Amino acid sequence: MASQYIVALIVAAGKGERAGGALPKQFRNVAGLPMIAHSHAALSAHPAIDEVIVVIGDGQASLLNDALGDVPHAIGGATRRLSVANGLAAIAPRSPSHVLVHDAARPFLPAPVIDRLIDALDTNVAAIPALAVSDTLVRGTSRVEQMVPRDGVWRVQTPQAFQFDILADAHARWPGGDDATDDAQLVRAIGHDVAIVEGDRMLEKITHPADFALADAGAASRLVSRSATGFDVHRLEAGEQLWLGGVLVPHDKGLSGHSDADVALHAITDAVLGTIGAGDIGQHFPPSDPKWKGAASAQFLEHAVGLLRAAGGILDFVDLTLICEAPKVGPHRQAMRERIAALLRLPLAQVSVKATTTERLGFAGRGEGIAAQAIATARVPTGV
Ligand code: CTP
Ligand code: MG
Repeated sequence: MASQYIVALIVAAGKGERAGGALPKQFRNVAGLPMIAHSHAALSAHPAIDEVIVVIGDGQASLLNDALGDVPHAIGGATRRLSVANGLAAIAPRSPSHVLVHDAARPFLPAPVIDRLIDALDTNVAAIPALAVSDTLVRGTSRVEQMVPRDGVWRVQTPQAFQFDILADAHARWPGGDDATDDAQLVRAIGHDVAIVEGDRMLEKITHPADFALADAGAASRLVSRSATGFDVHRLEAGEQLWLGGVLVPHDKGLSGHSDADVALHAITDAVLGTIGAGDIGQHFPPSDPKWKGAASAQFLEHAVGLLRAAGGILDFVDLTLICEAPKVGPHRQAMRERIAALLRLPLAQVSVKATTTERLGFAGRGEGIAAQAIATARVPTGV
C-alpha cells in the first residue's frame, strides 16, 4: 500500500450481560490479564499498526485505567454499532487511511491474522477473518425443520479491516436499527465487496461464563514457564540524583549513567527481556543513542513488559535484590515495591524487593557503586 496510516479500534463498551459477573467481561482476568490487555498488546506491537484506540462505555475510564493505564480511548454508545461509530468519529481528525475494528471480547489475536488482513487491503477495500463451518447446520426451533448446506458458510470474526473513508461512509449511511453485529455488513450495504481471509480458532469470542474457563485452559496449554535473570551495576557519583526502583532516594551521591541509571529497573528489564529471549536493555535502548540521555528507566521496563505481553506472555513474579552499603534500602523498600508493581501491572504480592550489603567488601562495599540483580518468572507461548 502507498502512504498509509492504520488505526486499530478495540470496541470494549459493552456490559457483558451474558457473561455475568461483577465487572464487565472485557475488564475481567482471562489467562492472567484483564481481557482487554491481550488484544491491546497484540495490536500495539504489530509493526503495521500506527495507533490503538479503545472504545469504552461511559463511566468505564477507571476500569480501563486499572487494566491498561492511561491509554487513548473514546466513549462508545448503546450498541456495538454506535460504539464503532463513536470510535470512527474520534479518530477521523487523524485522517487514517485504514482502520481495523476489533472486539475486546476476542482476547487472543495472533499476528498472522493481522498480517493477512493488511495484505488483503492492498487489493480490497474491506477484509474480514472467518472460519469455514465444520459442524452440520440445521434450522429449527425445538425440532429440526431444515438442513442448511454448510458449503460456503463461514463464521465471522474480528478484527475487520477497512479503508477508513468507506467504513465511515457506511456508518453514516446505515439506515438504523442499530442491530448490526459487525462492520462488514454495513460496508456491503453500501455496495462494497468484502474479502475473506483465514481466521483463527484462538479468536473465539468470550460470551458466556463457561467461555472464561475454556479460554484459560486453552491459554494454559499454549504456555510454558520461564525464569530469567538480570544484573546491572552503576557507579555512585556526587552531583547525581539517586533513582532506585523507580523511586527518588535522598542520598549524598547518585548513580551515573546515560539514562537515569536506575540500576534496579535495569536489572528487572533485563530479566523480563530474558523470559522471551529478546536480548538485553542495551540492544533495545543503546547508550550511544542521544534519545535515551537522562531517560526515565520506567519506560525501558514498560517496553520490556509490552514485548512480553505482545508475545502472548504473562508475567507472574519479579524478585529484586539491591546490593549496596548505603543508602539504607529499608525505608524505601515498600515505595519501590509499589512503583515496580505499578510499572509491571502486577499485584503487590507478585513483586519482591530485597537488599543486602557485601560486608564492606568490593566496589559495593566501598560505596563506589550499586549492583542489582533480578529474576522474572513468566509463562510464555511455546516456541517464543
Ligand atoms: N460492545 C461495545 N459497545 C456496545 C456493545 C458491545 O463496544 N454497546 C463491544 C463489546 O465490549 C465487545 C464487542 O462489542 O467487545 C462484542 O460484543 P458482545 O460480545 O456482545 O459484548 P457485550 O455486549 O459486552 O456482551 P452482552 O451482549 O452479553 O451484554
Ligand atoms: Mg452484546
